[in-house]
Amino acid sequence: MSEVLKILDGALKANASMAGNYAGLLADKLERSGEREDALRIRDRLARAPSAMAFAQDGSRMTTAVPTDTESRLDTVDISYPALQAEGFHLPSAAAKRLQEFVATVANYDRLAAAGIASVSRLLLYGPPGTGKTMTARQLASELALPLATVRCDTLISSLLGQTSRNLRRVFDFAEQTPSVLLLDEFDALASARGNERDVGELQRIVIALLQNIDALPGHTVVVAATNFAQGIDPAVWRRFPFQIPFSMPDASLRRALWKTMLRNFAPASLHWDELVHSSEGVSGAIIEQVCNDAIRTAILAGQPEADPTEILRRLGIAISLMNGHHLPSIEDEVRWLRQWRSEAFSLRELARLYEVSTRQISNMLRGQNAAKGTGKKNRSG
Ligand SMILES: Nc1ncnc2c1ncn2[C@@H]1O[C@H](COP(=O)(O)OP(=O)(O)OP(=O)(O)O)[C@@H](O)[C@H]1O
Ligand SMILES: [Mg+2]
Repeated sequence: MSEVLKILDGALKANASMAGNYAGLLADKLERSGEREDALRIRDRLARAPSAMAFAQDGSRMTTAVPTDTESRLDTVDISYPALQAEGFHLPSAAAKRLQEFVATVANYDRLAAAGIASVSRLLLYGPPGTGKTMTARQLASELALPLATVRCDTLISSLLGQTSRNLRRVFDFAEQTPSVLLLDEFDALASARGNERDVGELQRIVIALLQNIDALPGHTVVVAATNFAQGIDPAVWRRFPFQIPFSMPDASLRRALWKTMLRNFAPASLHWDELVHSSEGVSGAIIEQVCNDAIRTAILAGQPEADPTEILRRLGIAISLMNGHHLPSIEDEVRWLRQWRSEAFSLRELARLYEVSTRQISNMLRGQNAAKGTGKKNRSG
């Protein structure tokens, strides 16, 4: 029914691409629920439409032009078609449950609306960087079988005063005409609290325009906002998002799952999983992924069938140091930090092996001597 109403809206507004987009979506839905005949009849009609609309036969492709910023001519929305990720998608159980609730609510919007209890399809994801917010939005789009329209907040906030509101209007017009999940990523850039010291007037106008645009959208249009700066979001914005999922750094069981999936079949047989899980406390999923990719790359380039367990730990240690704001510019700095961090895992011999230097050079480094300067992976000296 919601597609039929949108097709009607499109027809009444003489907006053929909107009608076409939603007819394509209706065909997709009918096909998925086993009503192939009807789906074919719709597609057949669409195929006979003027050529500009031919794309809409497949509801997952869109015909509406992507909005752009007039000044820079850059697109303000990126369209992607994420594929469902069965493996490698891990969420804390409460977040996973909340997400499924949201999916079910969106999918059954009409039924809920008929009973008078539909809540608008708005989801706010917030939490520290690298904890899976953008990934969750992608997963959501693929579960709903809708394209993901990611708003590029950087292009959106045009340098031209007053242009931003116009850009916003175009983005939301697009969202209304195109079946999609509208993702306002890095939402804080747009919705920082009024009263932010930077150009208060302009920000205030943006927030007001944003709220008006969100309010004007039909309730079933899916809008997801993601931010890692939840404190900065205006309370009036919070209220517009009845579904909220907080993200946090992964707990031990989630970290274990992340290490397992991300090391894939490169996980070394001798790996101490407990140690890895324990050592990565406070580390985000994004960092775990980075460490795994680096360790796997090293293994592949060295012709090894599996990653080296101490190398994984070394990469993790360096990532943690960086995370805490300590850069390790030299090998000496790395070696000293690793010894201090996990002396039992990084024996002189292991360090010598990893850095391809002698144990003597390692102990010199630890004593703070400069004897090993200039040695490293590439130019070893013994
Ligand atoms: N819980 C998780 N399960 C699986 N992968 C994860 C998880 N958390 C993070 N990742 C991985 O980390 C990477 C970064 O995640 P994502 O981009 O979703 O983070 P984010 O929360 O959007 O971060 P930011 O706030 O910096 O935008 C992704 O490639 C994803 O594979
Ligand atoms: Mg993100």
